[in-house]
Amino acid sequence: MNLKSDAQHWGSLAKFFHWTIVLLIIMQATVGLVMVGMPKKPNIIPIYSFHKSVGLTIFALALLRLGWRAFDPRPAEPAGMPHWQVLGARAGHALLYVLLFAVPLSGWWFDSVSALRPLYWFGLSEIPHLTGPDKSIKDFASQTHAVLFWALSAVAVGHAAMAFIHQFINRDGTLLRMLPGGGGLASAPAAAISQSIPPLENSDAQIPPSASAADAAPPTREPGA
Ligand code: HEM
Ligand code: HEM
Repeated sequence: MNLKSDAQHWGSLAKFFHWTIVLLIIMQATVGLVMVGMPKKPNIIPIYSFHKSVGLTIFALALLRLGWRAFDPRPAEPAGMPHWQVLGARAGHALLYVLLFAVPLSGWWFDSVSALRPLYWFGLSEIPHLTGPDKSIKDFASQTHAVLFWALSAVAVGHAAMAFIHQFINRDGTLLRMLPGGGGLASAPAAAISQSIPPLENSDAQIPPSASAADAAPPTREPGA
């Protein structure tokens, strides 16, 4: 498996960032939602500290991911994907990137304006506050963090649904190629053939050369897309 992406495949580092961040966000959301429902006693402080440390880790991973993307343009979208869908997918991915930064930043901001205690990353190094304390906007900052989190959840659910639709209805291999060990896209003609032509009953029958998957024009890569 290559570290870098190419015109057909996601590289292993892009996959690592994608799925590590997804798993951490699921864990982070669970901890966040459980901890805010717990009675406000001193024993919740380690849970809050853990949530903040994991959130800062997600923020750092998102920065690394975006930095890597500058050197590692994404593979091409499936050939034949309608233009409006390509634009929609790109807008959705851009929004996911924005929320990937906005959610941890808003948590960090809330922690800063609350200024309860110094912020540590897993007790190892002190992280500066983003602003000075301001109790008058504490509630607003907390609500902003929650609203952005729910926005991220909604966009991510839609995004995952689109990945499943591409994989199992369009059968273009979009989800498979993002999975560890997954290959490239199914070529457009091959996917179309598998959906529109019933299985050949006569094993001697020949597929006309014009319908062969080998004739498929490979999708063109669009750097920086
Ligand atoms: C991607 C990263 C993050 C996710 C997905 C996330 C998610 C959440 C969720 C779901 C809640 C509960 C919201 C509610 O129902 O009120 C929450 C609360 C909280 N988060 Fe985060 N969070 C992230 C990053 C951070 C960071 C980086 C910090 C601070 C450095 C932080 C600090 C807090 C605090 C202090 C609360 C409690 C809010 C309150 O008591 O009103 N979070 N977070
Ligand atoms: C919090 C959750 C998620 C976030 C923030 C997220 C974010 C992203 C982003 C930003 C991209 C575009 C990568 C780039 O162009 O650099 C992407 C691609 C992708 N994601 Fe996610 N994702 C999440 C969850 C999921 C889930 C749950 C699935 C599937 C079950 C999924 C499947 C995919 C696939 C298949 C691609 C590649 C799409 C393509 O080749 O055009 N993602 N994701």
